[in-house]
Amino acid sequence: MHTQLEVILSQARATRVDTPAQLEALKAGLLGPNGSLTVLTRGLGQLPKEERPEAGQRINRTKEAVQQYLEACQERIASADLEVKLGAPISDPSLPAPTPFGGVHPLIKVRDEILSILASIGFVSVIGPEIDRAHFCFDALNTPKDHPARSPSDTYYFPSDTRIHGLFTEKDEPVALRPHTSSVQIRVMLERQAPLRVVSPGRCFRRDTADATHTSNFHQIEGLYVDKNVSVLDLKSTLDYLFRKLLGPKTQVRFRPHFFPFTEPSFEVDLKADHLGKVGQEWIEIMGCGMVDPQVLRAVDYDPETLSGFAFGMGVERIAMILYGVEDIRHFYTNDLRFLNQFS
Ligand code: DAH
Repeated sequence: MHTQLEVILSQARATRVDTPAQLEALKAGLLGPNGSLTVLTRGLGQLPKEERPEAGQRINRTKEAVQQYLEACQERIASADLEVKLGAPISDPSLPAPTPFGGVHPLIKVRDEILSILASIGFVSVIGPEIDRAHFCFDALNTPKDHPARSPSDTYYFPSDTRIHGLFTEKDEPVALRPHTSSVQIRVMLERQAPLRVVSPGRCFRRDTADATHTSNFHQIEGLYVDKNVSVLDLKSTLDYLFRKLLGPKTQVRFRPHFFPFTEPSFEVDLKADHLGKVGQEWIEIMGCGMVDPQVLRAVDYDPETLSGFAFGMGVERIAMILYGVEDIRHFYTNDLRFLNQFS
């Protein structure tokens, strides 16, 4: 009887049970009116009296083991059934919730796109400091002492006794949160000899009250090309190339005369991209540029008789707003996932 019971149990456990019907069949074969265990139980009476208790216990233990196995099968079938209904494996609720992947911020996307287009035509990226001396932000850029951009109502200055590690100032020279990336032009020209072709992306700061088109913290990309015989034609064709790559081949780029202290002549650049729909119908002002002023070349010991160059500076937020049709610059900074998820 002992071996018989073992065989019944191991055969039961080896039976494939994937469906409720298979489960019922197995159960009937073991515990039904003619099931093997039922038959054995019935046969107990024929055993010698002294063997009956032990045999009875053995049968009961086997029945319990069989019952456990049938329940395990029942659970497996039920959960497989639920997985099919849910269309996915059931996750273990004791595991930590899955963390959603982050996305790339739209300003970073636009910045990287612009940098990669410019890299393809030889512009190397360099990074300058966000805190910088008045010399790099203004003086070396030919900006007169009384220029409105230098006023503390426009630019954030540090208190005059602030010492910033690694930043050596002249006596009484103000230190500011840079109001533009043009300061990097000077730093690069002091470090390297022409010919050079660089772009410098980064954060800038101005004392602006936040509204739909202004924030006191924003991003620019500066470009600088210095070599022999650089002309306005090089500047115009570089910007044509950039914006046609960025916004599509039908994009038009137009120069309007303007004034910047560090370029002569200076231009404001307008864009029109009819194919972009409503945003692209009108000419919109997008950035500033010009030919590097000879005074700026002199400030870094470049010879304006042999060298010339062009420079440009653009606001990343402004371009991202045009590209994505964003109507308020503050959306970029409020960390609202309903906004940010649209870009990932
Ligand atoms: N620095 C200017 C600004 O913040 C932008 C600019 C204009 C940069 C002309 C340049 C340039 O390099 O040539 O408004």
